[in-house]
Amino acid sequence: MPQTTRRALAASGLAMLAPPRAARAQGATPAFPTRAITLVIPFAAGGPTDIVGRLLAETMAQGLGQPVVVENTTGAGGTLGAQRVATARPDGYTVLLHHIGMGVIPTMYRRLAYDPVNGFDPLGLVTEVPMTLVGRKDIPASSLADLVAFMRAQGDRFNLADAGIGSSSALCGALLARAVGARPTVIPFRGTGPAMQEILGGRVDLLCDQTTQTTEYIRAGSVKVFATPSRQRIATLPDIPTTTEGGLPGFEVTVWHGLYAPRGTPAPVRARLTGALQAALREPKIVQRFAEIGTAPVSQADATPEAHQRFWTADIAKWKPVIEAAGTYAD
Ligand code: MLT
Repeated sequence: MPQTTRRALAASGLAMLAPPRAARAQGATPAFPTRAITLVIPFAAGGPTDIVGRLLAETMAQGLGQPVVVENTTGAGGTLGAQRVATARPDGYTVLLHHIGMGVIPTMYRRLAYDPVNGFDPLGLVTEVPMTLVGRKDIPASSLADLVAFMRAQGDRFNLADAGIGSSSALCGALLARAVGARPTVIPFRGTGPAMQEILGGRVDLLCDQTTQTTEYIRAGSVKVFATPSRQRIATLPDIPTTTEGGLPGFEVTVWHGLYAPRGTPAPVRARLTGALQAALREPKIVQRFAEIGTAPVSQADATPEAHQRFWTADIAKWKPVIEAAGTYAD
């Protein structure tokens, strides 16, 4: 820079805005984070994604040295929360916890105001959670076979709560309806937290939901549980039969969760977030609480952007033909 220009800049104060020469030479990036981070949960407070997200936020905040504030941006089957993050400034201060919806939304939604595949940088997987089919306590069925018969007999008088097209409860409900050959009336909510309140109140018949929310209600006997759509029984709820054992073979869905930043977030910022995620998943408090609600943190190798990207890409490919065959589109 010529001396005269430098002098002119210094005189105007603008030189103060330029990064120090040493920092520019080493390609140094500003410290991160220097303020609170927003963790967007695309479903209602109190539900299973929110339960996992708040545990994660609290624990990651300790590692990051800044608050991690949960924001429930709900609606449209989790797509509004995803859109909020895909279109946020890619600076690491707005991140998303989302689930299997990231695998089905790219096929289920043919029109979206964000890119459901290229709008994000995956930061790492978080956990895999089994699902359970739970019903109001006084539903006149005491096994999966009874439930199937009841659903068939009731037709559209039978109702099924879910968290909207793109949610895990909706995917599970659609697979159940197809396996049973029934057409229940679907009642969508902004998350299965509020849906569960309707099951508890006896106003809705059935909900397919994650153990992170259902475990305590199953143990307390406040809902009736019929099966888990998992390959194996759930270690913490061993009395619940799998759907295959209960007479609906091949009907399986397990919910995975991952953490995302908007696409274009700088690599050092992403690395800091992934490091904080990995540290959180090693915390005994998380391991213990996850175990109590029927899940476990993923391995440290899976809490990486590479493993997350591989898993996510494979999941989109896995669900695409299923959704196309069933024709369960959002539009
Ligand atoms: C779902 O059905 O996808 C979830 O249970 C949504 C939620 O966390 O409420």
